[in-house]
Amino acid sequence: MKTICAPGQMIRVSRGIRAKRKSIGFVPTMGYLHEGHLSLVRESKRKTDTTIVSIFVNPAQFGPSEDFKAYPRDLARDLALLRKEGVDLLFFPDAKDMYPPGYRTYVEVTGLQDKLCGRTRPGHFRGVCTVVLKLFEIVGPDFAYFGQKDAQQVLIIKKMVEDLDLGIKVEALPIIREPDGLALSSRNRYLGPEERRAALVLSRSLGEAKQLISRGEKRTDRIIEKIKAMIGREPLARIDYVEIVDGRELDPVQKIREGTLIALAVFIGKTRLIDNVVVGP
Ligand code: PAJ
Repeated sequence: MKTICAPGQMIRVSRGIRAKRKSIGFVPTMGYLHEGHLSLVRESKRKTDTTIVSIFVNPAQFGPSEDFKAYPRDLARDLALLRKEGVDLLFFPDAKDMYPPGYRTYVEVTGLQDKLCGRTRPGHFRGVCTVVLKLFEIVGPDFAYFGQKDAQQVLIIKKMVEDLDLGIKVEALPIIREPDGLALSSRNRYLGPEERRAALVLSRSLGEAKQLISRGEKRTDRIIEKIKAMIGREPLARIDYVEIVDGRELDPVQKIREGTLIALAVFIGKTRLIDNVVVGP
């Protein structure tokens, strides 16, 4: 596996790959890799000729009081994991090359970016879209792989790709979980043992909601109430949001329909975790 840091070199190398009529699959990440990331890598390996992974902790998507500095990093471990998966190229740019002094251009997907996580993390999706568009331009993929763990993110990226005619096929892959249900996340590493136990309230409350729905409950107000009550009983948990929305516009719905998304964000101590499930008949 070759590691490339300079955007200009990455552009040249990817042009060379395309000139040989080889397809490129791309997995953008912020590193500190886990099985969730690797599931995306494996899909890219299965579906494309060349798999390129990026690791870049993108300052533009962190708020001023968020965890940019503390975000976990372990390049040696990430390199070993990516080598083992047979990844062809790692793009590992420096922030000063992605955002040189005087950088001014940002991408927004209006409306969608202000809902759910966008409400408590203003500017987050603007930062995500900006870096993902730049990465797409530099890496030039045919396919790009994202996790359904960040359901709003992948929806917004798909809209950006459609609106800007990027011609990249964006695929969303299922959430990978620990055996006890906790969705894998680089941020799980912040959790102490008590918090790790408390964090199960996210997946458990979503499981409870799914059960209610399978028993015939359709009213979203009642389901939200149940989820909030369950999280409320966990002393280490503080709700950021619990919402039930349609899976396209992310607007709240009264009744469960096909493709309805139940999404939540919960602070466990200081760590903000997200989880979601798609439900419906
Ligand atoms: P990061 O949090 O590192 O996630 C990289 C990709 O892995 C995202 O598409 C995310 O949805 C996916 N992922 C994370 N946890 C997962 C899990 N448990 N199961 C399946 N997929 C999972 O998301 C980002 O980085 C950044 O916002 C990025 C897109 C790289 C832009 O900076």
